[in-house]
Amino acid sequence: CGIVGYIGNKEAKDVILDGLKRLEYRGYDSAGMSLFNTRYQIYDVYKDQGRVDRLAQSVENSPHSNIGIGHTRWATHGKVNKANAHPHYSRSRRFIIVHNGVIENYQQLKEQYLQGVKFESDTDTEVIAQLIETFAGTLNVENAILTTLRLLRGSYALLILDQNNPDQFFAAKYKSPLLLGRGKEGITVASDLMALIGYSEEYLPLEDKTFVVASRDHIQLYDINHAPLQAKFSVIDMSNDDVEKGTYAHFMLKEIHEQPSVVRRIVSNYFDNGKSRIDAKILNDIKSSDRIYILAAGTSMHAGLIGKNLFEKLAGIPVEVHIASEFAYQKPLLSKKPFFILVSQSGETADLRACLVNIKEMNYPILTVTNVPTSTLAREATYFLELYAGPEIAVASTKAYVAQVGVLALLAYELSSKDFDIRDELTKVALSIENFLSCQNILDVTRYLLTHRNCFFIGRGLDYYTGLEAALKLKEISYIQTEGFAAGELKHGTIALIEEGTPVIALISDPKISHNTRSNLNEVIARGARTIKIVTSEVAEPGDEVIVDSVHPLLTPMVMVVPTQLLSYYAALERSFDIDKPRNLAKSVTVE
Ligand code: G6P
Repeated sequence: CGIVGYIGNKEAKDVILDGLKRLEYRGYDSAGMSLFNTRYQIYDVYKDQGRVDRLAQSVENSPHSNIGIGHTRWATHGKVNKANAHPHYSRSRRFIIVHNGVIENYQQLKEQYLQGVKFESDTDTEVIAQLIETFAGTLNVENAILTTLRLLRGSYALLILDQNNPDQFFAAKYKSPLLLGRGKEGITVASDLMALIGYSEEYLPLEDKTFVVASRDHIQLYDINHAPLQAKFSVIDMSNDDVEKGTYAHFMLKEIHEQPSVVRRIVSNYFDNGKSRIDAKILNDIKSSDRIYILAAGTSMHAGLIGKNLFEKLAGIPVEVHIASEFAYQKPLLSKKPFFILVSQSGETADLRACLVNIKEMNYPILTVTNVPTSTLAREATYFLELYAGPEIAVASTKAYVAQVGVLALLAYELSSKDFDIRDELTKVALSIENFLSCQNILDVTRYLLTHRNCFFIGRGLDYYTGLEAALKLKEISYIQTEGFAAGELKHGTIALIEEGTPVIALISDPKISHNTRSNLNEVIARGARTIKIVTSEVAEPGDEVIVDSVHPLLTPMVMVVPTQLLSYYAALERSFDIDKPRNLAKSVTVE
């Protein structure tokens, strides 16, 4: 979920709607807003299932207001309906709140403090509003909120309005992200920096257990015990161009096309006159470890699998890759001196945070590789490396994945004997992607996929991992049931699913094993499959449908993935699906 609050000179609904649109990647099951109605001197609430565009229609004729809070939801507790949409009220409607996170002990709190209270929703969030109202019976508003916060278990980023104090809003954070923005026109608070751009000149990522009281021209920060805290703001160095799609039809297409410049940006940011900028402490910690553990989820996990290969081949360090949600509660037997790398585009994935808390308790070094330097996982790890991919707005990750592989490659290279120049090789990667994007020939191939309900990607070695990512991408946005398979493994069972016309897409880049994959293709062709080959120029044969320019063998996944991204894009486009916001998904999942 994403939240935005505003107080200042501007029309609050405009700032909040704009912010919520930029936060829709965090969920779009329902959206809501509360604005002050100066005529009746009360806060009105507008909410419904559906997206921010729908909310924009409902607030179109709302009275002028300079203060408000808003929410875009990814459902966790309770169905997707109006009652469960945020904001939520307390029983007398005095308190109105929006929440991102999960309150784990909400049932217990309900039983202990809220017997007999009538609830309007099934959400954990309403419990917070009701508790504040209970405590406000005897305490002032700030103490009522703080008393409530101290009882909550789980995670929260909260914005709270009080009908009795209509010139302020209150904010609080624990585990879910929340950033304060300050500008000439007012104070904005949001789940992500992107929602502050254009409205704030400076920002401050809030620390856990911070409580904020914001009025038109003043912000006061407190800790959970009501002791005042100092606020140290930093300058925002992003502009509206970074968060708008310009002439592209979709953010995903824009982000695919940005990949060559992302690769070049990584090279320029990580090298200073030929010298690597990666902190020597990171390299020393890895060198003195006996095993790297890469933890990640979704697309980032697929980048982690490529990373494993890079560290093992270039640096000779053994690596294990684990799915974050599994590692958190089913820890493998660890080596004696482990080094942990968390890979996360957003830096907020709750499954990974659970791992981080766990690893910190064991006192092992942690490196977070992320696109968001202000994120929770960046701030709480021992070290972080930035992806420099720029904001990625489409829910399906493309440029962040390529950047993850690029940064992991740089790190592995710094640990290696450096018998090639990675800057040149990454520049070739950028050129290869650019060349492919300028003469893409993927549409006909895509059209064929649409006539089938399922699809397979197969590959060996690094191409197998690219196949896993390609399959996830196609599933995510075109809803075609797709599996990525190790080419040699298909025949051991899954080949039973091949029917007349089933699309099987082979990824072939390694000359040593290309003939093996081609044999696997013959096996499926013999059973009726329709095959498509995505290959590098080095292994291309007559009849291969999609060819990318060869690059350094270990960096090949960075170029091989590009045709598969476009394939997914066009498949979703042809099916008229919502490419940037596929159903049921959220880009950053801040619940476990
Ligand atoms: C969500 C997204 C995926 C993403 C995963 C990990 O499930 O829908 O696209 O790969 O989270 O996100 P992260 O921000 O940690 O890379």
